[in-house]
Amino acid sequence: MAKSVFLNLFLPMLLLRAGVRSEVIFHFENLCSETLYRASKPSIGDLEPDLPRYAYEIFNMDDHYSGSIWVRTGCSTNASNYFSCETGDCGNGIMECADLNPSLPVTLLNFIVSAPIVSYEVSLVHGQNIMVRIQPNGGTLMDGSGPCPMVECNKELSSVCPLKCLALNKAGIYVGCYSPCDAFKEPKYCCNGQGCQQDEYSLKYKGLCPSAHTYAGDPQPPTYHCKGADSYDITFCPAID
Ligand SMILES: *[C@@H]1O[C@H](CO)[C@@H](O)[C@H](O)[C@H]1NC(C)=O
Repeated sequence: MAKSVFLNLFLPMLLLRAGVRSEVIFHFENLCSETLYRASKPSIGDLEPDLPRYAYEIFNMDDHYSGSIWVRTGCSTNASNYFSCETGDCGNGIMECADLNPSLPVTLLNFIVSAPIVSYEVSLVHGQNIMVRIQPNGGTLMDGSGPCPMVECNKELSSVCPLKCLALNKAGIYVGCYSPCDAFKEPKYCCNGQGCQQDEYSLKYKGLCPSAHTYAGDPQPPTYHCKGADSYDITFCPAID
């Protein structure tokens, strides 16, 4: 496991997690109003769960990886030391939950890393529990079509989330929005051999988050394959622009 060094500078707090410098650097930044707890499937070598509010972490990404990162929100530890979260929970009672499936809905950050090439996307295929942006710093697309673009979902889906897709916490407060496939479990909302098509709900999700994948099989935008980026900024709750 990585050794953590917490450097309290000004804001944002800089987290340096020592390790072998790799070719692919992620900058995790948490601009949300709470500590987020990251998880991944499959697990990522040195990734530690906690990302405090206003933390900025420089992270050496594994050189080879194919999988998803998500965050858990609304987390707490109860009197019997059982850790749980309102969204993205793993059901195991502890802070680490690599390799487990999250409870839905979760915003997924999907990566295929084969250093120095990184493929990346923001996916709403299993709904949304956080707003996020992936911004490559430099780099060019493998197909030669230009610089590596930013992708994000920086709008909360609450305003377009159908009643049956609302995820509420115990107090009845909105904490996320399920995908139509996960909420309705009907073939027409899922990419299961009967075609993969935009539906009336994913159309609305798309309207808010055009650079995110909003249903299984969503062709737009293409998954970007980026080479030569200095780093990738992964920002949770990016400032509204
Ligand atoms: C803490 O949560 C766990 C899992 O829900 C539960 O089994 C346990 O009874 C809880 N402890 C207390 C003190 O509420």
